[in-house]
Amino acid sequence: MIGDTKVLFSGMQATGNLTLGNYLGALKNWVNLSDEYLCFYSVVDMHSITVRQDPAELRKRARNLLHLYIAAGLDPEKAVIYFQSHVSGHAELAWILNCFTYMGELNRMTQFKDKAAKHADNINAGLYTYPVLMAADILLYQADVVPVGADQMQHLEITRDIAQRFNKIYGDVFTIPEPFIGKAGARVMSLQNPEKKMSKSDENPNASIYLTDDPDTIVRKFKRAVTDSEGMIAYRDEQPGVRNLLDIYCACTNHTPEEAVNEFAGQGYGTLKGAVAESVVSVLRPIQDRVKELEKDKAYIDRIIKENAEKAEYYANKTLRKVKRKIGYPDRIR
Ligand code: TRP
Repeated sequence: MIGDTKVLFSGMQATGNLTLGNYLGALKNWVNLSDEYLCFYSVVDMHSITVRQDPAELRKRARNLLHLYIAAGLDPEKAVIYFQSHVSGHAELAWILNCFTYMGELNRMTQFKDKAAKHADNINAGLYTYPVLMAADILLYQADVVPVGADQMQHLEITRDIAQRFNKIYGDVFTIPEPFIGKAGARVMSLQNPEKKMSKSDENPNASIYLTDDPDTIVRKFKRAVTDSEGMIAYRDEQPGVRNLLDIYCACTNHTPEEAVNEFAGQGYGTLKGAVAESVVSVLRPIQDRVKELEKDKAYIDRIIKENAEKAEYYANKTLRKVKRKIGYPDRIR
């Protein structure tokens, strides 16, 4: 809480190509929140180095993600859009919180187990303490709410546990964050396996629509989308492929599933796929155009980067000063 305003924090990694799932499930829903909350939206580049990155590529992708935040409609004069690595408080608080986190807790993190299996040649300590850095992100800004997907819920739980543990020893230092329960973002599933979430790390490029895909690619991927042999357009568990197409269509056109089912009643899957592709193109095209404009406006973006890093740092330092006093670091002499 800052004054009367609640604080909201969220972040995305700049690694991999962002998908339609990232947009419809998260980014799109972030846009309207900055009227109601003081929002911090971070490009979490410090999290990215838990797996090996090509430096030039990481730098480029991080900046691209910032462009995308703005192109998707986040107002950088209102929401604090910034790079995590620009605010050293994240690293400082993460160290402190590491000392209040048990290995037993980290051992239970399912994402660590998955990532360790996937990157068996590089199971580094950063990968292991990743949830602590995430806790630091959230607690540094005294966030009241955090919009996260189901896959990050366990990390939000550990954040709450760490904050409560700390507060119990030192008094009310941290706001205990709640998961953001708003209008749920669409859960977009893989086009090749509709039982699985659409993922930017899917090896099959036909499984995901990337936010950078051109119209032809989008049409082609929807044509190849896995459906079923029922031959009827219905919104039900037994037809996950068709339901996913309808969900995507609804998220892009603001229709309800009932409306969409009526609209396509009696039509073939080909018609549905064509309409879904078209709805996705019309959502992505203006965003892609805006990204291209922003890429040309270096001075503007540089100003946003500078000002928002300063703004984030101001709030971060407030928390950090308090934490350092509480734990007994000697006062800095100025
Ligand atoms: N770990 C999150 C993800 O991979 C990204 C993230 C980092 C985040 N810090 C955060 C999300 C703080 C919410 C709040 O999706």
